[in-house]
Amino acid sequence: SSEVETPGVLAGRHILVTAGPTHEPIDPVRYIANRSSGKQGYAIAEALAKLGARVTLVSGPTGLPAPAGVNRVDVETARQMAAAVDAALPADVAVMVAAVADWRVDTNADQKIKKDGTGAPPALSLVENPDILAGLGASDKRPRLLIGFAAETEKVVDHAVAKRERKGSDWIVANDVSGDVMGGDTNTIHIVTRDGVESWERLPKADVARRLAARIADELV
Ligand code: CTP
Ligand code: CA
Repeated sequence: SSEVETPGVLAGRHILVTAGPTHEPIDPVRYIANRSSGKQGYAIAEALAKLGARVTLVSGPTGLPAPAGVNRVDVETARQMAAAVDAALPADVAVMVAAVADWRVDTNADQKIKKDGTGAPPALSLVENPDILAGLGASDKRPRLLIGFAAETEKVVDHAVAKRERKGSDWIVANDVSGDVMGGDTNTIHIVTRDGVESWERLPKADVARRLAARIADELV
């Protein structure tokens, strides 16, 4: 069944995975980031490679070692991630696990911003980053199976259902990050597809990854 690992079942497939946070510079020494550890995305990349897929892992800064058998492309910002994703296409499947920063500072200073002595803080003006998943969903290079992730702190499934439609993805894998999930080693997920919702029990991230890789392989048959 879908939970048995069959080596080679994804041989010949190219799968793109994004993972980690992005860092959006404020000046040469400061940035905006988030608590994503990259662990779930890295585990998924590794599990897909173990099933024989050629995996491109576009990763924000995580400090994690590249999983065995995976081609990692390192980026820092959302815009670099968007460019690396585009350069990696075509792909049969894309699994967009990265916690892409929603906003960047509109003009990143080329010198360190100094306190001006008055006690008045600098005003940072933010602009929205490109939505990489939605861009892929609308692209003529859209992968056959497009999977987004959604980290939510409330109304997890409702938000995921809406997000699936808005982004043009086939699945949204929703996880509740209201506990200590970010940086932790377990995950409780709901897979929202066009047909409904599959809810999995709380599992180690490596087990989530293996089951998801098997589920992806089933979908491509
Ligand atoms: N995503 C992306 N590019 C962005 C923002 C998000 O590719 N600029 C992807 C994420 O990798 C994830 C999915 O979109 O697969 C959902 O991300 P999420 O942050 O939950 O969605 P947002 O549309 O940014 O909505 P929210 O306001 O809830 O953050
Ligand atoms: Ca977001």
